[in-house]
Amino acid sequence: MKAGEQTALITGAASGIGLATARIFARSGAKTILTDINSAAGEAAAQALRDEGCDALFIGMDVCDQASIDAAKKKALEWAGKITTVVSVAGWGKTQPFVENTPEFWKQVVDINFYGPIMVIRTFLDEMIERNEGRIITVASDAGRVGSMGETVYSGAKGGIIAFSKSLAREMARFQITVNCVCPGPTDTPLMAAVPERIQEAFIRVTPLRRLGKPEEIADAIFYFSRPEAGFVTGQVLSVSGGLTMAG
Ligand SMILES: NC(=O)c1ccc[n+]([C@@H]2O[C@H](COP(=O)([O-])OP(=O)(O)OC[C@H]3O[C@@H](n4cnc5c(N)ncnc54)[C@H](O)[C@@H]3O)[C@@H](O)[C@H]2O)c1
Repeated sequence: MKAGEQTALITGAASGIGLATARIFARSGAKTILTDINSAAGEAAAQALRDEGCDALFIGMDVCDQASIDAAKKKALEWAGKITTVVSVAGWGKTQPFVENTPEFWKQVVDINFYGPIMVIRTFLDEMIERNEGRIITVASDAGRVGSMGETVYSGAKGGIIAFSKSLAREMARFQITVNCVCPGPTDTPLMAAVPERIQEAFIRVTPLRRLGKPEEIADAIFYFSRPEAGFVTGQVLSVSGGLTMAG
């Protein structure tokens, strides 16, 4: 499918990596649906893209709530006719020693980072299967490949997304639907701004390219997997992390 024929739905599109992703899709000519729980920021981002002449719409959607996902799907299909690309970016975490985590915290982390993406992707698959085309792009984390101090349950959820993406890629290949996963390393977003400065400095010290990533750099990798050039690429995991991990 050509860039201009894409209709992309992005979760977590009101901020950081999701917002950068929405901008690259919209500016490429794709019909772009920004979704998030933060309606004020999401509406403002979509309006700014429309002001540039892009085809963009914001729909409020909580990835942890099936009714909210179903309602968003209805609105998205009414507006766009079809969704060719789903990008699952929404996620959340907090650095804290595992032994200090509460079971409520585990549940919140797993719901947002693992169960939520599963619900969103499952919801949009039927139309893709019917049309025999589609691109699913998940955003995990290098924490899910090699672990991360103080992010133990988050790492487990992100590792789950990596394995889920690979298995789904196998199941969906016969419908010409590709599934790929992008793993950011430490990236300069509002989520990172909440990480204590000494931990941010430690991240930079262990990153061979010696800086945080920019949200646009992660978005470029996500966009690649949606491109016609990536039509023969599925089940792959791409780290965009300044060399932090060099997983085989
Ligand atoms: N920033 C980093 O260093 C980094 C590193 C590795 C992975 N990641 C992953 O990248 C993704 C984006 O992170 P970011 O840094 O841009 O974060 P961010 O906090 O800037 O943006 C995340 C967005 O997700 C939205 N969101 C949160 N819960 C939601 C829910 N239940 N339903 C819908 N939307 C929800 C938030 O409102 C926010 O707009 C996340 O999956 C994160 O785990 C980030």
